[in-house]
Amino acid sequence: MLTDRRQLLTQAAALAGVALTPAAWTSAAAQTRMADDPFQLGVASGEPTPDGVVLWTRLAPKPQEIGAGMTAAPVAVRWEIAEDAGLKHTVAKGQTLAVAEAGHSVHIETQGLKPGRDYWYRFTAAGHSSPVGRTRTAPAVGARVDRLKLAYSSCQKYSAGHYTAHAAIAAEHPDLMLFLGDYIYEEPNTGKGPRLHPVEEPTDLATYRHRYAWYKADRNLQAAHAAAPWMVIWDDHEVANDYGGDQDRTNPDPATFLKRRAAAYQAFYENMPLRRAQVPVGPDMLLYRSLAWGSLAEFQFLDTRQTRNRRTCDAVSDGKRIPADCPERFDAARSLLGMPQEAWLQDRFRKTRGHWNLLSQQYLMEAFTTRLGTVGNDGWDGYAASRQRVMQGWRDARVSNPLVLGGDIHCFFAGEMALEPGGKPIASEFVGGSISSLGIAKPSDMELLLAVNRGLKFGEGQHRGYGRVELTDKEATVTFRAVADALVPDSPVTDLARFVVEAGDPGLKRA
Ligand SMILES: [Fe+2]
Repeated sequence: MLTDRRQLLTQAAALAGVALTPAAWTSAAAQTRMADDPFQLGVASGEPTPDGVVLWTRLAPKPQEIGAGMTAAPVAVRWEIAEDAGLKHTVAKGQTLAVAEAGHSVHIETQGLKPGRDYWYRFTAAGHSSPVGRTRTAPAVGARVDRLKLAYSSCQKYSAGHYTAHAAIAAEHPDLMLFLGDYIYEEPNTGKGPRLHPVEEPTDLATYRHRYAWYKADRNLQAAHAAAPWMVIWDDHEVANDYGGDQDRTNPDPATFLKRRAAAYQAFYENMPLRRAQVPVGPDMLLYRSLAWGSLAEFQFLDTRQTRNRRTCDAVSDGKRIPADCPERFDAARSLLGMPQEAWLQDRFRKTRGHWNLLSQQYLMEAFTTRLGTVGNDGWDGYAASRQRVMQGWRDARVSNPLVLGGDIHCFFAGEMALEPGGKPIASEFVGGSISSLGIAKPSDMELLLAVNRGLKFGEGQHRGYGRVELTDKEATVTFRAVADALVPDSPVTDLARFVVEAGDPGLKRA
């Protein structure tokens, strides 16, 4: 059905935070054909429910330019979603306005779709058609589901390598894709690495938008977005390295930093297939949420950046701030999530009906000592009581088959978590490598790490790639997929290692 025009205007205005007049709509509808294709950032979908998904695009006829080649004028965008790849059996369609205040992004929350099936969608605007994307709705609430296949990864520093892993993800046609942070890197271009990106470090909305457009022009990234619905969370580099709350390593003034955070969050929202619930309000954005996949799985997505307590245990060496050990990291009053998010998570643990419960977050979660014998203070180790409460929550609520998925460290890791050091596993965790960011390359360094971190059963940092997770009632199978060489385009992708976690037995086995 075509959406009512009044509703359209209200929706677009709400998203953009501005009042759109009927005259704005008329001028948008009268838009003539653009000389350049405005769909050069591709299409995406995300946030699947049993009756809908979010459809996304962003108009950018000149992705490499600040402003992406768009003017301040709104542009009318039509969308359609169909039951077939040829878009013959359309089940919903409508129009909206892409407005400058939202970076000419479009977020359509479709409704009335059937649960647990594939759909295909497309946008048209200014005389051009977008590529066709494939997406999938979640199964009906509580429905029995035989199998779920998902891919997950993180950390795609554009200058560090090619997005070959995304091409492989697209070829798998997963039911779902999880991106666990560091979608962009805010760093200035050093000129090193196989690919260049803009020189300047983004600090305001225009420059963050520019950085996203540069990344999203990548054809392999577009293919992965067009292949499956995505669920996204962020890590630090979507804003600034190692930031937490209003605390930044290079900008000591919280008020100034929060302005930068507001710009970064707005650009993140604009460039991801997110719902209205995620529209930022100033420097704040609600990112933690859950997703049910019938009765087979529930995902809990965490935000470990925005509402954490301030980092502690910083030491100074050679003029540089480095992490050190200190008793404050065990302080029960400190939280990596912030207490409201912790309370929400414990509530999910009590209410979840998922056979598998996948904690989807940014880090390697278990206690971790570096090869220099130091402990990181940026992640869960800097907030050890917070981690303990999560694990205790699994135990107290008798959460069915908890599993942890993570990113951040640019390596593949498989490990077992325990309530006490050396105790019986309570959950297995899997860090699915990085798309392109470089990790611990020397095998001897990795051997040392595995020797001192006994919970880790596998580690590999030489290859880029992603994780594949296949869930059935009986078992979770996790396959680490490695790109032979991400420094060159189109390198082969092969299985690096495979693990099985059996339902009812939280430890992992090499398969
Ligand atoms: Fe990263």
